Amino acid sequence: MLLSAKNIGKTYGEEVILQGISLELDGGQSLAVTGPSGSGKSTLLSLLGLMLSPTVGEIWYKNEDIGKLAEDRKDRLRNQEFGFIFQSANLIGSLTVLDNVLVPAYLAKNRQMKEKAVNLLREFELGHRLDYYPSELSVGQKRRVAIARALLLDPAVVFADEPTNDLDPQLCSWVGDYLLGLPAQGCALVVVTHDLGLSARADKVVAIADGHLQ
Ligand SMILES: Nc1ncnc2c1ncn2[C@@H]1O[C@H](COP(=O)(O)OP(=O)(O)O)[C@@H](O)[C@H]1O
Ligand SMILES: [Mg+2]
Repeated sequence: MLLSAKNIGKTYGEEVILQGISLELDGGQSLAVTGPSGSGKSTLLSLLGLMLSPTVGEIWYKNEDIGKLAEDRKDRLRNQEFGFIFQSANLIGSLTVLDNVLVPAYLAKNRQMKEKAVNLLREFELGHRLDYYPSELSVGQKRRVAIARALLLDPAVVFADEPTNDLDPQLCSWVGDYLLGLPAQGCALVVVTHDLGLSARADKVVAIADGHLQ
């Protein structure tokens, strides 16, 4: 078992957002999370990826209860073991495409990653946009920059929140194929998606409704 949630829940004030969620992911496996808008998918992804802390329950990663780690160890996990592709790309507007992709390397104090970042961006057909700023990119280009950034440090798990949303059919199928190809390279994938073509090809699918697993 690589990553598991044990009976986790999240409440904000009186409001229960997620309750009683347990799931498991092996290394090199893909898990799709589906469910209607507002059902708690993004919150679940953030809990699994240590972007948020559960109100109750435990998150285990490589035989360790990672919710209990000190903040610096959580930072290290988020930076070096996990890759996060946010719903809205979340690029840094004042940094170029290349520097956005290099942010995880700067945080890890690893200055030797420029060639790898350039190669990833070339693979994603963005080799001619290295010096552009996010505001000068299309939605699909921003999405590919966000994917490159998430992959720079060879994470063990990639978390992707609706990564094929708002893309044209061709790019949609490219992103889906690319992300579903990660497990074969040893990188587990947790993907929130409404894309039935994508979820149907994942190793496991879970549906949430109203904060509960179905
Ligand atoms: N920081 C927050 N404070 C209060 N409520 C929140 C917060 N974040 C999300 N929620 C609520 O949690 C519910 C689930 O949100 P979310 O996980 O984004 O759903 P989904 O991704 O499935 O659309 C929504 O009702 C949303 O308003
Ligand atoms: Mg969401």
